[in-house]
Amino acid sequence: MPSPGRNPRGDFNVSTFAIAQETASISLAEAVVHEARIGLTASPKTLSPWLFYDEAGSAFFEQITELPEYYPTRTERGIFTAHAAEILRVAAASSRLTLVELGAGTATKTGILLAEAVRQQGSVVYQPVDVSESALVAARENILAHIPGVVVRGQVADYTREALPLDRLPGVRALALYIGSSIGNFMPAEARGVLGNLRSQLLPGDMLLLGTDLQPGPHKSEARLLAAYDDAAGVTAAFNRNVLARLNRDLGADFDLDGFRHQVLWNQRDSRIEMHLKSLAAQKVFLPANAAGPALTISFAAGETIHTENSYKFTPASVRELLGDSGFAPVRTWSDPEELFAVTLASAF
Ligand code: AVJ
Repeated sequence: MPSPGRNPRGDFNVSTFAIAQETASISLAEAVVHEARIGLTASPKTLSPWLFYDEAGSAFFEQITELPEYYPTRTERGIFTAHAAEILRVAAASSRLTLVELGAGTATKTGILLAEAVRQQGSVVYQPVDVSESALVAARENILAHIPGVVVRGQVADYTREALPLDRLPGVRALALYIGSSIGNFMPAEARGVLGNLRSQLLPGDMLLLGTDLQPGPHKSEARLLAAYDDAAGVTAAFNRNVLARLNRDLGADFDLDGFRHQVLWNQRDSRIEMHLKSLAAQKVFLPANAAGPALTISFAAGETIHTENSYKFTPASVRELLGDSGFAPVRTWSDPEELFAVTLASAF
């Protein structure tokens, strides 16, 4: 049975393609303006986390992944290093695999899985999907230089809304990689939407490998979780404040960066880390007129915040629930000895 997004030949349906075209017709610059206007006139004020990732923000994020306090990246890499052979053997179950990565970025951790896929099946087709063309170019160069046997077919797309340009020969099983706890940026209903969109483009029996950061537990204190988002060197604070610098650069806004402080909270009820930018005094910020609307003056009360990120934290049970709600049956979970992070393999049903 073909899945909903595809016709019987396995091509994308016309309707799905039309959505992709419509999305592609909104430029990045327009999306930034739109998002900033909506978020800064909302109550409470918000800015969506994807706005972090301009060139400067992506460089800050790379630095974050190397901070001593930021355990997720190195912990997930450790899980891949320890268990790649088993993960791929269970995922393949003696089929041939093609690996598709959502939000691949520069694909640094993926190399461990690709190298193991080449060991197990001689070669592998790797299909990274990302909104950033420069990240895909870096991913391709990095992988071609270091892992012979990988065929890279990168695609620029917004995996949250568009059809995945998934390509495979008959009988080849897709293993979708959604790692780094990127799913944690979405509210539960949105997360189900993102995984459901992925599921609709897979065939029954295809697999998903999902990386999720975990809630505090016996070996993981709340303080450790908070420190990962409030490092001593102030890199995460700079990453957070960079969103204001970006709006100054891209929209001609006049945010005073010193007028806002990086704030991190653990929201126990919703099981998420929240990042905010807290206005240190009553102040006004000017957004010039642009294609999206007239000039705006945004007023901040002293202590008022802009909510810039949610980073949801999971339990093995909440991961299983999310997967089940999105059309995936959990197969197996790997974690580290401190249970900081989990990597879950699931099968499309
Ligand atoms: C890329 C969304 C997984 O939530 O940990 C890191 C982003 N924000 N430090 C995360 C982030 C602040 C990161 N994700």
